[in-house]
Amino acid sequence: MSNAQSEKNKEQTGPITLFHGTNLGTDLGTGGEAGESAPASVFLTNIAEIRNRVRQNIMSGAVTPDYKGDLKLTIAILNEALATEIVCTLRYRNHFHLAEGIEAQSVAQEFLEHSNEELNHAELIAKRIRELNGEPDYNPANLLSRSHSEYQTGATLTEMLQEDLIAERIAIESYREIVRYFAPHDPTSRRMMEDILAREEEHAEEIQTLLSQTSWKSKEHLRQSFEESGEIDESESTEGRSA
Ligand SMILES: [Fe+2]
Ligand SMILES: [Fe+2]
Repeated sequence: MSNAQSEKNKEQTGPITLFHGTNLGTDLGTGGEAGESAPASVFLTNIAEIRNRVRQNIMSGAVTPDYKGDLKLTIAILNEALATEIVCTLRYRNHFHLAEGIEAQSVAQEFLEHSNEELNHAELIAKRIRELNGEPDYNPANLLSRSHSEYQTGATLTEMLQEDLIAERIAIESYREIVRYFAPHDPTSRRMMEDILAREEEHAEEIQTLLSQTSWKSKEHLRQSFEESGEIDESESTEGRSA
């Protein structure tokens, strides 16, 4: 190839500099002599095409024309997750105050911590909905119909913990499905939901531990009551000690 031809090619298909000066056409060894028939980028999409495309509808912000997902459906799904988090925030808050009332301080603190974390999840989801130009639905009238988990209170500590564990298990299953849905076309939403899912799994494990401790304590309490009243129930007594 003559020098003149080489210069001409350089102008037309010359390497494009991305990522803090990495010259993808030459540094990655894709083009031989700099500029000589080097591809514009190691990516499949032509970078010039991307540059032209994103100039259109710039007010769409983070939503670029190559977004392959169904935006309306994505926002609806995220609003369901948002409602789930708000309902979980409220349920844990309610359990925190109830547990404080019955002087179960350590469990109450766990409820408070979970409530704060669910609120933080709601914030992350609402932020993502805004990034996708959607509107986070905070309307109380829509919460229960959108939420995957239910709002259930409890008369005893054990009942509260059971309801919390059920709610966490519902969130785990539905979030796993949401992660699968986002995987092919929306890595940001997928990653966010994966992080939240990991926390819900930790919540479930923590509640499960508290539940096993609490049911042991209530059985022990029952055994002591039987002993005091002279009506010792051997099955409860043995079960309680070995739990
Ligand atoms: Fe959560
Ligand atoms: Fe949770």
